[in-house]
Amino acid sequence: MEFRLDPWGSEVIREYNKLFKFFGIKPFKEVLKDLSRFVEPHMLMRRGIVFGHRDFEEVIKALENHEKFAILTGLMPSGRMHLGHKMVIDQVIFYQNLGAEIFIAIADAEAYAVRKLGRSELIRLAIEEYVANYLALGLKTKNLHIYFQTNYSREYYRLIQLFSRKVSMAELRALYGEDLEPGKIISVLTQAADILHPQLKHFGGFKVVLVPVGADQDPHLRLSRDIADRFSNELGLRRPASTYHRFMTGLDGGKMSSSRPESYIALTDDPEEAGKKIMRSLTGGQATAEEQRKLGGHPEKCPVYEVNAYHLISDDRELENLYWECRTGKLLCGECKARTRERLIKFLTEHQRRLKSARELAYKVVEVPDF
Ligand code: TRP
Ligand code: SF4
Repeated sequence: MEFRLDPWGSEVIREYNKLFKFFGIKPFKEVLKDLSRFVEPHMLMRRGIVFGHRDFEEVIKALENHEKFAILTGLMPSGRMHLGHKMVIDQVIFYQNLGAEIFIAIADAEAYAVRKLGRSELIRLAIEEYVANYLALGLKTKNLHIYFQTNYSREYYRLIQLFSRKVSMAELRALYGEDLEPGKIISVLTQAADILHPQLKHFGGFKVVLVPVGADQDPHLRLSRDIADRFSNELGLRRPASTYHRFMTGLDGGKMSSSRPESYIALTDDPEEAGKKIMRSLTGGQATAEEQRKLGGHPEKCPVYEVNAYHLISDDRELENLYWECRTGKLLCGECKARTRERLIKFLTEHQRRLKSARELAYKVVEVPDF
């Protein structure tokens, strides 16, 4: 049976279990205990939202042996940065606080070629929407490398060209589907260079590199792993480790997506407006208050619950309370939304206060391409 992940698609992944079965991604649960020997795992990890991994044992080993390790991630500068995007950066900050060196690729080559965005717009978005929000969320500038894919060093570009020799069209079609244009092909080889380049001597030499991504990005990781194997002698590359997180459900029930403002909460949404989006959101509740009291709601199917579990409630006990109050019908959706709205307004107001100074800093931490 065929099952393919599409990194450019807009589908909701419903069956995360298939990823274990078909692609050999392992449950993150299994390494959670090991990680907790070094640090309290991030709430996204404790709650199973980061659900899978490959080779995370390598990160544990690095922690055990006090060896350096790095995080590599990429951002797609299209649309506004919303809560769905925030999940990656929350993890990046967690690892940075653990001592990891951080590499962040701005996927402007991919945005231009595949998403067909204009250069000046995507450069501005990358810095003012994404990088600035990252800094305001707490990303530190120490040990941080943020770069545009079109504006980096020659050792990185050399990788893209060398990689092209050891990748076949058949393999790319199997990973990405039939309609492969040159722009897509170059984008995926570029992403492999993103993932593998921190190991080169020029970037500090070999270290364990972990790539935390949304589950749809796994094809890129499989390709990068194969490429690493093929260049293990020539360039000394090793396979990257990776973790996979679930997507957030949009407030309207689809995937949280920049193309539908009602589906997301942007980090720069006016707090009051964002509060209104919560009040209009779909829920996992019953049709009437009476039924809700009798039958209880379905937090596991509720976008409002997700906003709390993924972002707003960091205390596990408090979240568990919410869960059971909903399940047992003690809490009705109107009241639950009103509380969520309050939490969200508080978070956004504080975040946006930090964002002001982060905007200036954002232009300083990354070299801006001149066209
Ligand atoms: N393709 C990613 C996206 O659509 C962006 C990206 C580029 C990336 N390079 C990366 C993600 C390296 C993880 C690792 O969002
Ligand atoms: Fe969702 Fe809250 Fe309603 Fe439960 S009570 S279904 S968590 S909005």
